[in-house]
Amino acid sequence: MLDQLSALEAEALAALETVADSGALQAWHQRYLGKRGALTPFLRGMGQLPPEERPEAGQAVNRAKLALTEAYETREAALQAAERARSLSAKAVDVSLPGRPPSVGRLHPSTQTLRRVYSIFADMGFQVYRAPDVETDELNFELLNIPPHHPARDMWDTFYTTREGVLLRTHTSPGQIRAMREYCPEPIRVILPGLCYRYEQVTARSEMMFFQVEGLAVGKRITMTDLKGTMAEYARRMFGENRKMRFRASHFPFTEPSVEVDMDCILCEGKGCRVCKYTGWLEISGAGMVHPVVLRNGGYDPAVYSGFAFGMGVERPAMLVHGIDDIRYFFGNDMRFLRQF
Ligand code: DAH
Repeated sequence: MLDQLSALEAEALAALETVADSGALQAWHQRYLGKRGALTPFLRGMGQLPPEERPEAGQAVNRAKLALTEAYETREAALQAAERARSLSAKAVDVSLPGRPPSVGRLHPSTQTLRRVYSIFADMGFQVYRAPDVETDELNFELLNIPPHHPARDMWDTFYTTREGVLLRTHTSPGQIRAMREYCPEPIRVILPGLCYRYEQVTARSEMMFFQVEGLAVGKRITMTDLKGTMAEYARRMFGENRKMRFRASHFPFTEPSVEVDMDCILCEGKGCRVCKYTGWLEISGAGMVHPVVLRNGGYDPAVYSGFAFGMGVERPAMLVHGIDDIRYFFGNDMRFLRQF
């Protein structure tokens, strides 16, 4: 019996040498060490031996079982290590491959235009002053010299909130009052950018929400010449050298005198085209000298101080520069449009 046992052990160890993967290893385990494996009859056969032979035989069988179990475990660890090494080298990350770049956003065309405007006016000493989109009727209209039943209100219908006298501003002009009240009696040079809202039919030319940039300069000897120079410098830097300017008489309740600032059409060089409606001129801004009533509402004595103001759109010039033919694209959230800038 002991001979048979050592023959079995030798056979099992030799077989283990040829085992090459975990499947074969399991089969080997079942065959030699499993419940119905080759070693089991030896354990079971113990009872049939004469009592004096049992201890020696028992020890021999246990030693054989232990030897095979240890050999099995060693083999198992070696196979696992080999398999891990194989899978690591098969699935290795090649760090020299080019990466997949995350998609980065970009600035909205209105933001890009605004930033150009900021830098042009910053060079002329204008700071950016922020004022809220949600305004009171008092600031949006009354303090700008537009009393409740003034006909000019027709031009500026808007969205009203449920709170009496609180509305979405129709222009950035109420920021003038806020800036004056904050800085008075110091001189002022600010631009006031931001969104404005109007309750009107949305078309290719007009939106119900759009950006404006307001400008305000207040001081002791500010004249219309300063306004003209500022507007000319802005147009030159925004739209190119040699821009021709034209100031047309106009009316705004918060300026006196009031003007519309035009420049020669950058698309047809002033010859006349569809965009400038065959006039050769493009309107770029409303402007004027700050009305004495408005100066006083801001805290400045109009006998001592004077000022100029202007208010211009942002999307319209962006449309001109980029050749965009419909203002509704700006807030349409269409990536095909936005990706182009
Ligand atoms: N607030 C005017 C508008 O929305 C634009 C404007 C005109 C602003 C003349 C001014 C100004 O500051 O002086 O149509």
